Amino acid sequence: ALPRDLEGRHVAISAGGTREALDPVRYLGNRSSGRQGYALARVAAQRGARVTLVAAHTADLAPPAGVDLVRVGDARELREAMQVAAETADVVVMAAAVADFRPVARNEHKIKKTDRDPDPVVLTRNPDILAGLVAGRRPGQVIVGFAAETGDAETGVLDHGRAKLARKGCDWLVVNAVGDGQAFEVEDNAGWLLSVDGSETPIPHGSKAHLASVLWDAIAR
Ligand code: C5P
Repeated sequence: ALPRDLEGRHVAISAGGTREALDPVRYLGNRSSGRQGYALARVAAQRGARVTLVAAHTADLAPPAGVDLVRVGDARELREAMQVAAETADVVVMAAAVADFRPVARNEHKIKKTDRDPDPVVLTRNPDILAGLVAGRRPGQVIVGFAAETGDAETGVLDHGRAKLARKGCDWLVVNAVGDGQAFEVEDNAGWLLSVDGSETPIPHGSKAHLASVLWDAIAR
């Protein structure tokens, strides 16, 4: 049986990938499946937490038992839902892949095919939700980010992770190598758990539930 060490705690977790509309039928999106965020939510609930799971485009995943599921579409909706959940959350985990940019305008009607060259898609920056949550952090609230990095294990991925942890101001950062069948759209995950106090824990290749257990163990301690 799992420890009930998150009993009495509220945790807010984002999962999946945002989609930024170009028109009523098209969007800019990413390859996140939501499986890591769902595993975090499932394990937290099993360990006794009250869980709010904010899910972007994860329709093919079964909702974990005993979790409050809030469905969102784009980055601005995800930010709104996470800000509401963060008002009472003891722990906030941003596992969602949030689009950094969105089209400046959403066409009201489906963009028509013409013989002319298409207009370029003009993008604008989305808010950094994690940075906003850190800026509005409640006393004692623990904030966790994820970082998907491409590159060589030690040099690229880990160095980027260290820099990102410092830049984002969160307490923990889970760093994954992505690409070549790693992390996105697959069942397994691996990486490092970096702490603001400088500790670096390698997370060996394993299930996303295992990675979730490593993170909840560290936070519960
Ligand atoms: O800087 P980068 O996008 O790699 O950081 C990843 C982390 O930041 C993840 O925890 C992700 O959920 C979060 N993020 C965010 N808002 C964005 C982009 C990323 O909260 N616009």
